[in-house]
Amino acid sequence: MIGTAASRKHRCGLLLPALLLGFVPLRCATSPSDSDRVRTLMGRNDRLLLETQLAAADDVDAAGIRACLQEMAENLEQAGRFRPFAEEWKNREYPRAMASAVDRLRDVVATEWTPQNREDSYIALRAICSQCHSRLVEAAHE
Ligand code: HEC
Repeated sequence: MIGTAASRKHRCGLLLPALLLGFVPLRCATSPSDSDRVRTLMGRNDRLLLETQLAAADDVDAAGIRACLQEMAENLEQAGRFRPFAEEWKNREYPRAMASAVDRLRDVVATEWTPQNREDSYIALRAICSQCHSRLVEAAHE
């Protein structure tokens, strides 16, 4: 389990209500496929990426950033348990690619974001997403 009680207090505030209103009713209507489940988790990550960017603007909100990144890591871990691809070789590669993404994300979480390193940290974060997206996911969603 990642995240402590203290860090959870800093969870990205608007995110959960937005997701409950936006995603859940749509997704519950039919039984979702693995691909749907992964897409839902990734959609959250996309929002978390934006929240991270906002938290890194002006006065860097390091605690807010950490909370977003921890939630992102949990979403990725969860997404890694599904088999979202039609091609078998991709489903075989995917858990390993995800484990490596989560490892790299933990390094980014462990780094304190400052005005000096925020650009590099953000680039490192985006690279984690695109490593898988450029190799296994054809449509460039990012
Ligand atoms: C190890 C692989 C992997 C990593 C790492 C990864 N993704 Fe994804 N992503 C996927 C897969 C698989 C899909 C679903 C493709 C499909 O079924 O259409 C997806 C889909 C998406 C989508 C489309 C969601 C939709 O509604 O269709 C977005 C946006 C996205 N990812 C953002 C991100 C972001 C942001 C990160 C980094 C925090 C990230 N992804 C990291 C594999 C990955």
